[in-house]
Amino acid sequence: MQHTISTLLEHSPIIAVITLDDVNHAIPVVSALVEGGVTAIEFTSRTPAGIAAIPIVRETFSDIFLALGSISHASDLLKFSKIGVDLIVTPGLSHTLLDAAKTAKVSILPGISTASDIILGLEYGLRYFKFFPAEALGGIHYLKALSQPFTQCRFCPTGGISPLSMNDYLNMDQVDIVAGTWLAPNDIIQVQQWHKITENAVQAVQILKR
Ligand code: 3PG
Repeated sequence: MQHTISTLLEHSPIIAVITLDDVNHAIPVVSALVEGGVTAIEFTSRTPAGIAAIPIVRETFSDIFLALGSISHASDLLKFSKIGVDLIVTPGLSHTLLDAAKTAKVSILPGISTASDIILGLEYGLRYFKFFPAEALGGIHYLKALSQPFTQCRFCPTGGISPLSMNDYLNMDQVDIVAGTWLAPNDIIQVQQWHKITENAVQAVQILKR
């Protein structure tokens, strides 16, 4: 089943972002997250293993929400939108990238950090944006000010989000998803401590209920 950005919320309001060095870690890391209750997962395209993981994970976990992130070239977007992803995530946006997403007919969550970025996205009919890099930009304080003229938009803060800050963001009217690497950080994946990733996911799901 192909999900769209509007079905993302039926999964979990947290996207676990993973940068993978070894494709053999793809299934164990996703299994650990799903066991802990996090079923929205983004592999970054920063490593070949992250891209290779998508079709493998899709075959095993047909119903999870699966995104490919860190896409910044239109040619990559066109190529990788067909390998089983529900969503393409980009750190920023441009006419070329947004045109490519239209051509590929793939959902896109583009990164924004300014009002001009949001206006460009709106011109393409988009309403959901990745607020990136959230904490470095000024966090909630900045997002509150930035979002005021754009009440029709929703934001997914990413970059520096932690178990301590996730609910502060999610309590904002215009935020219903957060994303980050804290659930499955690279150092834990490297040493294959899958139970720690499940623990992080369980903890995040518990924090959501508070
Ligand atoms: C991303 O690629 O979306 C970000 O690098 C994630 O940021 P984080 O590592 O601070 O969660």
